[in-house]
Amino acid sequence: MKILIAGANGQLGRELVRQGAGHNLLAVDYDQLDITNLEAVSRCFDAFKPDVVMNAAAYTAVDRAESDIEAAFAVNRDGPANLAMMCKQLSIPLIHYSTDYVFDGSKSSAYEESDLVAPLGVYGESKRAGETAVAKYCSKYLIFRTSWVFSSHGNNFVKTMLRLGGEREELAVVADQFGKPTSAQELARITFEVLSKADGQWGIYHLAQPDAVSWHSFAEAIFSEACHQGYSLRVKHVRSITTAEYPTPAKRPKNSALNCQQFQSVFGVRIRSWSDSLAEVIKEMKNG
Ligand SMILES: NC(=O)c1ccc[n+]([C@@H]2O[C@H](COP(=O)([O-])OP(=O)(O)OC[C@H]3O[C@@H](n4cnc5c(N)ncnc54)[C@H](OP(=O)(O)O)[C@@H]3O)[C@@H](O)[C@H]2O)c1
Repeated sequence: MKILIAGANGQLGRELVRQGAGHNLLAVDYDQLDITNLEAVSRCFDAFKPDVVMNAAAYTAVDRAESDIEAAFAVNRDGPANLAMMCKQLSIPLIHYSTDYVFDGSKSSAYEESDLVAPLGVYGESKRAGETAVAKYCSKYLIFRTSWVFSSHGNNFVKTMLRLGGEREELAVVADQFGKPTSAQELARITFEVLSKADGQWGIYHLAQPDAVSWHSFAEAIFSEACHQGYSLRVKHVRSITTAEYPTPAKRPKNSALNCQQFQSVFGVRIRSWSDSLAEVIKEMKNG
């Protein structure tokens, strides 16, 4: 199968490339294919003639997006729209990824696909616009809304915590925002697993690893696993703080846990727990 992977150097992109070994891949990032450039996208499709497209390209700097609105919408809305239009022309599927930050976080239980989207910030707004564009321009699409993505490369909470935990004895981490950490590797593994089952099941699905935690509990789990694997850390105490004590340019949802029952009942795929993935990612980072 010929698979075009856009955003191939990001956290998810790299894992898609790794999981896709054995397929005929064209893995491109910003410098080889800027998805906001329709002409470039069209030329790439004409030359490679993919059977399926996976879009891991995104503008993911949640706080920076608040003051970089045009760029966030260009990458998160116009880019997916371009890919969707070209997929429609070739009648091929587009696999796209979205975010838990399309929700405002006011729900007390986990969000279902049918829940109202109401993003709190520019990043979430731009990702919602991307979902709408994909659904408007092509019919064969899977949009996986995921959350709190981590991996051994790129920028993510796990890497930040391990860096800070190596430098300081005490850290303060927000304890009143809840979500589901999800490893890029598990996302990529599952993406390839469902590929052959996707026909006729097009739509939006929630795809995140169980169970929901706060950033504070996630930080403690990271340090506990790192110590277990022999990391030398300075951190002794992880203090719980509230969102109000850690102001950021972008507002974030208090609860963005995603309910993944629909995904599991349609595709019959088991989603591993994030703690298993965390152990693997920390091991991978340790081994360089
Ligand atoms: N990270 C999270 O916590 C999180 C949470 C929920 C959902 N998601 C979603 O999951 C998906 C994967 O996220 P991720 O964490 O893997 O993102 P990431 O690590 O930030 O990777 C995104 C990649 O897209 C590239 N890119 C940016 N603009 C581009 C353009 N115009 N054309 C082509 N490539 C471009 C980036 O290149 P540069 O680095 O050069 O800009 C980067 O390599 C995204 O859809 C994201 O919205 C992520």
